[in-house]
Amino acid sequence: MSKFRIFIIILAIAIYYFVIHGRCEYKGDERLDGKTVIITGANTGIGKEAAIDLARRGARVICACRSKSRGEAAVEDIKNISGNNNVALKMLDLGSLNSIRQFAKDINAKEERLDVLINNAGLAGPAYRDTTEDGFERMMGVNHLGHFLLTDLLLDLLKKSQPSRIVVVSSNAHRMVSSMNLDDLMSEKSYSGTSVYGYSKLANILFSLEMSKRLKGTSVTINALHPGAVMTELGRHLDDYLQLPPFLNKAMRWTMSIFFRDSRQGAQTVICLAVDRNLESVSGKYFAECKISETTAAATNETEAKMLWDISEKLVNPSA
Ligand SMILES: NC(=O)c1ccc[n+]([C@@H]2O[C@H](COP(=O)([O-])OP(=O)(O)OC[C@H]3O[C@@H](n4cnc5c(N)ncnc54)[C@H](OP(=O)(O)O)[C@@H]3O)[C@@H](O)[C@H]2O)c1
Ligand SMILES: *[C@@H]1O[C@H](CO)[C@@H](O)[C@H](O)[C@H]1NC(C)=O
Ligand SMILES: *[C@@H]1O[C@H](CO)[C@@H](O)[C@H](O)[C@H]1NC(C)=O
Repeated sequence: MSKFRIFIIILAIAIYYFVIHGRCEYKGDERLDGKTVIITGANTGIGKEAAIDLARRGARVICACRSKSRGEAAVEDIKNISGNNNVALKMLDLGSLNSIRQFAKDINAKEERLDVLINNAGLAGPAYRDTTEDGFERMMGVNHLGHFLLTDLLLDLLKKSQPSRIVVVSSNAHRMVSSMNLDDLMSEKSYSGTSVYGYSKLANILFSLEMSKRLKGTSVTINALHPGAVMTELGRHLDDYLQLPPFLNKAMRWTMSIFFRDSRQGAQTVICLAVDRNLESVSGKYFAECKISETTAAATNETEAKMLWDISEKLVNPSA
């Protein structure tokens, strides 16, 4: 295919989404005074914008980040823009089970309550397979397994604070894969940046589905969501991955910068799931544009959700 045609196709998709696809704005006026929220990956992109909004609503916001300097700069911004000084930075590297355990230990010892946990941090598409500290393939390790352990370790505090919520930032990229790669979860047999990202985001939804069943009878809810196509730093591996000639790279960035939504718009469905009073008893669902959305057969397969849970539990060993 000629480079010109590729460019036209990207442009057409972008315009289609721009013109046809609505962008929700969450309008609810809920306050969160006296409530505590944890957001992973809150130093940039969707997580940072969600942090600003929830701080404005009066919440104590804990930004769980892996970089001290980036985290500190973001917390200053979040305080400044929201006018709320009750914003804290705590170090969390989701690519390290040890870091996750230390983070959870600190939270459980020092925080009175936890009303909303937002599993937002993530990465997409390193061109070559990379691993976490514990030897997990990096996207599955950070996007799914790290959050699996984190949620498990914070569950008692969430239960103590109920009604409380878990919000899982997934992606429509889960539609790129037709079933979970349960026989090769670490992508040792084959690796493609785009499919592995899709698997990790499918894992987010299956985790949410199985967790919602385990939370039946409590007032802790869990839902997953797609934030839209958002202009963030998520594309930081894109050039490396696509290896397009420079002029097409520029054209692609330009197209994205015009037609993708900004991070504030990308945070709307996250905010909706975190605060909307009408969602108090909605759990185990997949959302886009602040509404429940259809998903794939793979993302609603309860058998695979349970199988993924069991494998994940063995890998991260929450009771260790
Ligand atoms: N942007 C989109 O179009 C889009 C579409 C669908 C879904 N999503 C999802 O939205 C979520 C947020 O992404 P974004 O678009 O806002 O991307 P982003 O701007 O790249 O932000 C990602 C955040 O995750 C953090 N993170 C990465 N690895 C981490 C680790 N090992 N431990 C702790 N934190 C880590 C990053 O921290 P550092 O800055 O230190 O790296 C950063 O704060 C992701 O789950 C993504 O899959 C995004
Ligand atoms: C935010 O920062 C600017 C300059 O950095 C400062 O002038 C302003 O007073 C700050 N606003 C708040 C609410 O702290
Ligand atoms: C769900 O997953 C199981 C186990 O992989 C598979 O046997 C079954 O066909 C799947 N069901 C659907 C409806 O896709």
